Amino acid sequence: MSSPAGPQITVQSHVRRRSLGALALAASFPLTLLLAPPARGQDTPESVRQGDQPFTVRVVAKGLEGPWEVTWGPDDKLWVTERTGKRIVQIDPKSGEKTVLATIPEVEAPGGQDGLLGLALDPGLLQGTGHDYVYAAYTYLDPSRAPDATVQDEASPYRHLFTKIVRFTYSPEGNKLDSPTEVIAGLPASNDHNSGRLKVGPDGMLYYTIGDQGNNQLGNWCIPTEAQRLPTEAELTAKDYVAYVGKSLRLAPDGTIPPDNPAIDGVRSHIFTYGHRNMQGIVFGPDGTLYASEQGPKTDDEINILKSGGNYGWPHVAGFADDMAYVYARWAESTPKPCADLTFSDIEIPAAVPFDRETDWKGAGRMTPPLATMFTVPNDWNFQDPACNGMDFICWPTVAASSIDYYPPTGAIPGWGNSLVITTLKRGSIYHIQLAADGQAVTGSFERYFQSENRFRDTALSPDGGTIYVATDPGGLAESLSGGTTTEMQNPGEILAFTYDPDAPANADQPTGTTTQGSAATGGTNQSADPTLPAGKQIPTGQFTPATFTEAQVNDGKRSYNSACSTCHGNTLSNGTMAPHLAGQAFEAKWKTKTVADLYTYSRDHMPPSRPHSLPDETYAAITAYILRVNGAEPGDQPLLTDPDALANQQIVIENKD
Ligand code: HEC
Repeated sequence: MSSPAGPQITVQSHVRRRSLGALALAASFPLTLLLAPPARGQDTPESVRQGDQPFTVRVVAKGLEGPWEVTWGPDDKLWVTERTGKRIVQIDPKSGEKTVLATIPEVEAPGGQDGLLGLALDPGLLQGTGHDYVYAAYTYLDPSRAPDATVQDEASPYRHLFTKIVRFTYSPEGNKLDSPTEVIAGLPASNDHNSGRLKVGPDGMLYYTIGDQGNNQLGNWCIPTEAQRLPTEAELTAKDYVAYVGKSLRLAPDGTIPPDNPAIDGVRSHIFTYGHRNMQGIVFGPDGTLYASEQGPKTDDEINILKSGGNYGWPHVAGFADDMAYVYARWAESTPKPCADLTFSDIEIPAAVPFDRETDWKGAGRMTPPLATMFTVPNDWNFQDPACNGMDFICWPTVAASSIDYYPPTGAIPGWGNSLVITTLKRGSIYHIQLAADGQAVTGSFERYFQSENRFRDTALSPDGGTIYVATDPGGLAESLSGGTTTEMQNPGEILAFTYDPDAPANADQPTGTTTQGSAATGGTNQSADPTLPAGKQIPTGQFTPATFTEAQVNDGKRSYNSACSTCHGNTLSNGTMAPHLAGQAFEAKWKTKTVADLYTYSRDHMPPSRPHSLPDETYAAITAYILRVNGAEPGDQPLLTDPDALANQQIVIENKD
């Protein structure tokens, strides 16, 4: 294990690196490839238009613990999953009244992208057919199965985290969900890119998406992406679903493999399509066309039509195979330096890491291209915009598409019939795009609506199409309306209703008026309470077990940090793309005036895995020691973590390493 990141950074700057900038690409790639005309449906960030339909906005419900799926039910209620709340709740869209239909204690959510995810209502629900079924997908721990061998830390919950789909039966008399019956268990799960969207198709089959697990990037940078790997007959016989990552699945309602599933490379499995990165949205159009939204890397979120047996190209291709601003860097195959000794970067690929252009891939000619991309940019695009405060990913062309809905031809909004509605996490918006009459292509460019300082997770439409309900994340990072980034959500963990209203001013880009007031009301109820923690989980500040800041502790802290924190904060602490940097200027600006105790309690009370306080006190102390060490503190000269009183008041000292 190399020493903490101070020296690591210095060493890295001597490593010869290739940049993804225009010069490097132009030097090694034939010019013709760079000049290829843009393919159809390939929008750039500049081609997005502000939507101009008028809406009014209202907060329907708040205080939800990670609302993830929101679906309109046949009882005219909203059916919602709470990712970390582990509940399925029914919400009256008029009054906002919440009823818990089921609590699922088996759900485990150790990280930021796991827990209770997709929910699908059987078309027979409340139709008097006896099929009052509701399907839910969630992550759970199963120590009896063979552990995930790619997770090396024996103590990590992700070694034993899997996904299952369960069928519940709804009883209208008791208004609750009962009789959980396992449809399938042992599906892959990870600390990143689980996808998790679930639908019942018009053919009565279940459709489920599983992401590439966030491998080959961030904290999982040395684990290869297996979105192209297909299962063997032996694996299927053993019910080992390791090859289901980066796929969409099609399952019979009892969990078996439908006989008309595609045989891909001679093997018929649950796999319906493959070559996906993080497909968080699927929806059926009226003619059975299956539309999907998929998150891309720095560029090229995709809108796809999923066709049986189709290969969608990841990780060889992002968007179209056009060699624009994406190459496939194979970190796990680095040589002669082992991957673990390298520093992951989204911007520069070390010389030790082999990479391929999109058109190098032999399958490029046979892959199913997207309907549209959000958004494609040239190779000389600046992915490090200073306005982004070092949180570059927020400013990248990708918007992190998180769901997709089909807008029906009869919907109330003029001109919207037969179109797609996509929520995004990064710009807290809805992107709307028109479909061609046959539904097999898009026409025109994306329009953006409702931009706010929120992360939009999912939508549901009222039956007349006049209201779009939006579920918002409880926290995280969003783009600030005044430029840069923000961690303060305007509407944390809420259901918002945007209602088409011809008399309202066109408010395409701003829901804040009503919604901010609504949010402020919660904050006012208890001044000392921490609004980011659910009621009942509030914990007193400033209480922690002191520990000694030793070199051993720093090493422990580094190990724990790499397994619990690096996915979001980056393995050097200042290369994370999903969370603020914990070293360098951004960290210094925020933490210089704070105490060590502040840093300790913030990590313990607000951060995954499961908040607050799921790791032992010593682990938080060790992680704190590691963060301080990376920022220049020495074990000898700052025995900061020995005395709780001194610790509580000890100001953080950050040494300038420049
Ligand atoms: C799933 C992603 C994720 C993981 C895993 C994660 N964090 Fe965070 N962290 C965030 C996000 C997003 C923010 C900014 C929003 C907030 O403060 O809640 C943040 C903020 C922080 C901050 C405040 C930084 C600042 O300048 O505002 C600290 C300190 C921190 N995290 C420490 C940790 C530690 C220690 C761990 C591991 C135990 C960890 N985080 C794990 C996503 C994550």
